[in-house]
Amino acid sequence: MTKGEQLYEGKAKKVFATDDPELLLVSYKDDATAFNGLKKGTIEGKGSINNQMSNALMRYLSERGIPTHFVKEINERETIVKKVTIVPLEVIVRNIAAGSFAKNYGVEEGTPLSNPTIEFSYKNDALGDPLMNEYHATALGLATEKEIQTIKDYSFQINKELQSFWAACKVTLVDFKLEFGRLSDGTIILADEISPDTCRLWDAESGEKLDKDRFRRDLGNVEEAYQEIMKRLQQHI
Ligand code: TMP
Repeated sequence: MTKGEQLYEGKAKKVFATDDPELLLVSYKDDATAFNGLKKGTIEGKGSINNQMSNALMRYLSERGIPTHFVKEINERETIVKKVTIVPLEVIVRNIAAGSFAKNYGVEEGTPLSNPTIEFSYKNDALGDPLMNEYHATALGLATEKEIQTIKDYSFQINKELQSFWAACKVTLVDFKLEFGRLSDGTIILADEISPDTCRLWDAESGEKLDKDRFRRDLGNVEEAYQEIMKRLQQHI
C-alpha cells in the first residue's frame, strides 16, 4: 500500500490517499487541542497510543457485529481505513455525568445516570460544534431518519461492549464521542477514532482520570495517563 498525497490535516490526524480509491491512510499526531482549538499542546507518544488503542477497540467491536472503517495497522502511528463520507454529527454517549452535561444540567460530575444518554453535535468547527437534535439533523439533510436510527442502535451497542471491556481493565467508561461514515453504497460504519482523546476513562477504584481531561484541565501527568490506559488495554485485549 503506497502513501499518496495528503488530502486533509485535522487537529489530531492527517489523512492521505492510497493507491486504492476505496482506502485512505490515517496518520495520528501528538498534537492536542481543546476548546475548539483555543488550547494547543503536545502529548508525547499520544499519536501512537491513540492509533493502536483505536485499532484494538475497533477490532474488538467488529468481532461483536459493529461494522468499522478499520482495515490494517501499517505502523505505530499509521493505519489504513475504508474511505467514507463522514456524517457531520458528533455522537456522544454518556453513562455518568461529566463535562458539558454536568455543567449544562447542574449535576455534580461523577453522578451516575439512570440510563445511558445520547446526544448529537453538528460537526462544524466554525460554529463551535453546536448541539443538535434529530429533527435538526434531518431538516438540514445531514442524515436520514433511518441513518440516525442505525447510528443510535450502533452507539448504544458500542457502549455496552466498551463498558464491559473497560470494566475488565478496572476502568469506568464515563462517556465518549463517536463519528460514523457512509461507504460508497451508503452503508453506515463506525469511523474516526476511539481513544483517550474521545472518551472519559476513570480508574474504577480511585476515580483518577486516565484521559484527555488531564490536558484540558491542566491536571498534570498527561503522558503518564495515556501510557497507563494503554497498558491496561494491552493486558486485556
Ligand atoms: P463533553 O462533556 O465536553 O461534551 O464531552 C463528551 C465526550 O466527548 C468526552 O468523552 C470527550 C468527547 N469529546 C470529543 O471527543 N471531542 C470534542 O470536541 C468534545 C467537546 C468532546
